[in-house]
Amino acid sequence: MMIRSQPYCFRGIVTICFFFFLHPLPNTFASPTRSLCRHDQRDALLELKKEFPSHTLNDKLATTLSWNKSVDCCSWWGVTCDDVLGQVISLELQSYSTANTSLKASSGLFKLQHLRHLDLSDCSLHGEIPSSIGNLSHLTYLDLSFNQFIGEVPPSIGNLNQLRYLSLWSNDLKGNIPTSMVNLTKLSDLDVKGNQFTGGVIILANLTSLSELNLSYNNFNSSISVDLSGLHNLKRFIGDGNSFFGPFPSSLLMISSLRMITLGGNQLEGPLDLGNMSSSSNLGSLDVSYNKFSGLIPPSISKLHSLAVLDLSHNNFKGIVPRSISSLVNLTSLDLSYNKLEGQIPSLLWRSSTLWSLELSHNMFSSFNKPVEVVDGASLRELRLGSNSLQVPFPHWICKLKDLSALDLSNNQFTGSIPQCLKNATSLTEIRLQNNSLSGFLPESFSNLTGLKSLDVSHNDLVGKLPRSLIHCKLMRLLNVDGNKINDTFPFWLGSLQILKILVLRSNAFHGPVYNTTTYLGFRGMRIINIANNNFVGSLPKDYFANWTEMSIVWSNEDSPESEYMGDDSHMYEDSIDLVYKGVETDFKRIFQAFKAIDFSGNRFSGHIPGSIGELNELRFLNLSGNAFTGNIPPSLSNLAKLEALDLSRNNLSGEIPQGLGKLSFLSYINFSHNHLRGLVPQSTQFQSQKCSSFMGNSRLYGLEKMCNENHVNVPVLTSQPLQESLSDSKEPVLNWIVAAIAYGPGVFCGLVLGHIFTSHKHEWFIAR
Ligand SMILES: *[C@@H]1O[C@H](CO)[C@@H](O)[C@H](O)[C@H]1NC(C)=O
Ligand SMILES: *[C@@H]1O[C@H](CO)[C@@H](O)[C@H](O)[C@H]1NC(C)=O
Ligand SMILES: *[C@@H]1O[C@H](CO)[C@@H](O)[C@H](O)[C@H]1NC(C)=O
Ligand SMILES: *[C@@H]1O[C@H](CO)[C@@H](O)[C@H](O)[C@H]1NC(C)=O
Ligand SMILES: *[C@@H]1O[C@H](CO)[C@@H](O)[C@H](O)[C@H]1NC(C)=O
Ligand SMILES: *[C@@H]1O[C@H](CO)[C@@H](O)[C@H](O)[C@H]1NC(C)=O
Ligand SMILES: *[C@@H]1O[C@H](CO)[C@@H](O)[C@H](O)[C@H]1NC(C)=O
Ligand SMILES: *[C@@H]1O[C@H](CO)[C@@H](O)[C@H](O)[C@H]1NC(C)=O
Ligand SMILES: *[C@@H]1O[C@H](CO)[C@@H](O)[C@H](O)[C@H]1NC(C)=O
Ligand SMILES: *[C@@H]1O[C@H](CO)[C@@H](O)[C@H](O)[C@H]1NC(C)=O
Ligand SMILES: *[C@@H]1O[C@H](CO)[C@@H](O)[C@H](O)[C@H]1NC(C)=O
Ligand SMILES: *[C@@H]1O[C@H](CO)[C@@H](O)[C@H](O)[C@H]1NC(C)=O
Repeated sequence: MMIRSQPYCFRGIVTICFFFFLHPLPNTFASPTRSLCRHDQRDALLELKKEFPSHTLNDKLATTLSWNKSVDCCSWWGVTCDDVLGQVISLELQSYSTANTSLKASSGLFKLQHLRHLDLSDCSLHGEIPSSIGNLSHLTYLDLSFNQFIGEVPPSIGNLNQLRYLSLWSNDLKGNIPTSMVNLTKLSDLDVKGNQFTGGVIILANLTSLSELNLSYNNFNSSISVDLSGLHNLKRFIGDGNSFFGPFPSSLLMISSLRMITLGGNQLEGPLDLGNMSSSSNLGSLDVSYNKFSGLIPPSISKLHSLAVLDLSHNNFKGIVPRSISSLVNLTSLDLSYNKLEGQIPSLLWRSSTLWSLELSHNMFSSFNKPVEVVDGASLRELRLGSNSLQVPFPHWICKLKDLSALDLSNNQFTGSIPQCLKNATSLTEIRLQNNSLSGFLPESFSNLTGLKSLDVSHNDLVGKLPRSLIHCKLMRLLNVDGNKINDTFPFWLGSLQILKILVLRSNAFHGPVYNTTTYLGFRGMRIINIANNNFVGSLPKDYFANWTEMSIVWSNEDSPESEYMGDDSHMYEDSIDLVYKGVETDFKRIFQAFKAIDFSGNRFSGHIPGSIGELNELRFLNLSGNAFTGNIPPSLSNLAKLEALDLSRNNLSGEIPQGLGKLSFLSYINFSHNHLRGLVPQSTQFQSQKCSSFMGNSRLYGLEKMCNENHVNVPVLTSQPLQESLSDSKEPVLNWIVAAIAYGPGVFCGLVLGHIFTSHKHEWFIAR
């Protein structure tokens, strides 16, 4: 049988294919005569087959004539022989079995002593790697990835001194990389990603043929102090997601072949000492994010002149950004966020025609180095300057960044108005300007920003009306104008934005009714609406909430309309959650999938609470406090089985508290104070664990003895940002929340973008990368 080269490219790993073109199996098929499988080889294979319960074998084995004694074993599925000698030289049993089987030391496999290529990936193997593996001393390729191998790698692996490719990816191996591996001097590819190795990196220096090294996602907890400069062929050093400590392994930078260093998510510390760098460095990507580096960013970094990706984020770098960074002419992505950098943002960055992502957020930058010149071909797509100390007028030159998709200037002290020229940046999908000192009107230029998905201008000093041009942003999912001075009527016209999910008009000067008989209220996609602290008036008809269908739909992760954004070319990410929600676990998925909330508090609504609210059975938060609602508490509220917080305080509600509310087992915050309620308070745990003050000001309520006679502490309280504001507001717990800010980044940026989502989930973060 001919030796196939194509199958070696399984899983499409380019580097592996490449490797095999460089190192093909010995070319034995030149011989015209083909010998048959040797019987000892056939018997060894059949022995191996027997070691797996037959019903767990791959269909190909079960349903074809393969692996049948009466057929030449050299033509069996997955088997390749040496044409002359009839020895089995390659066995490709990838996904061969679904059994939870272990390889025994006496397995037939180890009788196939001529094997050069062995792929047992994803075979549901369990247990230790038997030391007999050392018998297969002709192996050049060994793939044991995606099994449940466990325990330590046997020292006998050092016998495989012809080995060029070794993958142990995604198993449960622990201990050290065995010392005996120093003898694997031909090893070019070593992938142990996703195990629990803790040590043994010292031997790496001996693996002088290494080209690709992947140590990511283990528990390595040593320093990388060994001199690696002798690895002349090394292209990629991947070691993220471990506990490496000590200084940066600068010996790597002496290797001119090196293209990538990934050491994010470790405990490396001290200054980033780059040591003696190769003058012909080819390093294209350097990622040391999520470590504990301190000191200045070394100006010598510019000697790594091929750098395209530089990620120093989430460290303790301080001082200014060295001007020399601007000489990295091929930089496409620069992430210095989450450090303690200060001073000016180097202007030369805007002149780059290659840079498409610049992240400097969460530092202490105070100004832009002037003059800011944006070149015509500037390709910046993502600009994140949030959470710095930028105390300057809104930068108009941003309008010249025609490819800009994500703009984050939030949490600074930008002043002046948002310029009309923003309409020139027609690629914008995400604008985050919250927590600045911006004034004036929102510009009427949104008709040009048809791709806009998210606009957050909360906590500024904006006045005037909501620009009607927002109606052209059909992809809008989040609109947050919280905490401004916008003086407008209720934006019924936004109701036609089918996928608007989050609308926050809180704390402005909105006024008038939120309902009228002639206008159809849309908002079918609404998940979070907060119109609190305005001057809205009027009563709401019974069926007011009847069409807010999104709030009653349970999406499984797969069919969620978001899944399109969560997939491989992710457009979606959540940069920050401004939700301070004490007492209940809150995580990303929860916020995104399940956070359904209505806050109409602090207005002048009157009439009855619309019974249709009971149809929103996915609702988690409901705040109608501080209005003039009258009548009974609608019994339909008892249908809101997922409700966690309910605030009806400071209204004119009368009658009894529906006993059905006592069944709401997730309800952890309740406030019915200052109404005219009477009768027995439900005796359920949820009610009885509230503070007494939650029911005060209702002179005819009873059944409060338990909660009013004990000092309750640790009652979950919902507070808003800024925290001080609500805490000083009142001594009573206030149900008062702000919104999960969802933002959207350019899809091409998937990996980096996901990095933001999972900052608090180290594990996923690294998988995402
Ligand atoms: C092996 O192949 C022969 C004919 O080629 C067939 O009769 C026999 O049933 C096969 N055995 C198995 C176990 O499939
Ligand atoms: C496989 O079997 C071992 C015991 O032999 C057991 O500990 C392990 O959980 C099993 N794994 C699976 C996936 O069934
Ligand atoms: C492995 O090789 C040793 C000798 O090197 C031999 O004794 C042993 O039987 C072999 N094991 C197997 C499973 O073939
Ligand atoms: C490496 O191989 C040599 C020769 O085969 C052997 O003597 C030595 O013990 C091996 N080293 C280790 C650490 O196994
Ligand atoms: C491994 O490398 C170290 C230092 O480079 C060297 O002293 C040692 O002899 C090497 N071991 C082998 C087995 O090559
Ligand atoms: C490990 O890193 C190498 C680059 O050296 C890469 O080719 C390989 O796909 C990575 N392995 C996994 C499992 O991601
Ligand atoms: C920058 O990239 C271009 C095009 O890929 C390449 O020709 C050039 O050599 C690179 N410059 C440096 C300094 O690496
Ligand atoms: C916006 O674009 C128009 C024409 O498309 C141009 O005349 C104007 O100078 C641009 N404004 C800015 C600030 O770039
Ligand atoms: C903005 O939209 C208007 C009307 O659609 C169009 O005439 C104008 O050219 C657009 N401006 C830019 C800068 O795209
Ligand atoms: C809102 O604007 C109207 C005029 O359009 C004005 O009468 C009213 O005082 C304004 N309200 C606030 C709170 O500024
Ligand atoms: C209802 O609201 C729409 C949109 O704000 C407005 O144009 C209309 O005049 C209102 N109708 C009544 C009867 O108030
Ligand atoms: C709900 O939608 C229907 C049409 O689908 C409409 O007739 C009705 O007026 C809507 N109700 C409200 C309160 O908007």
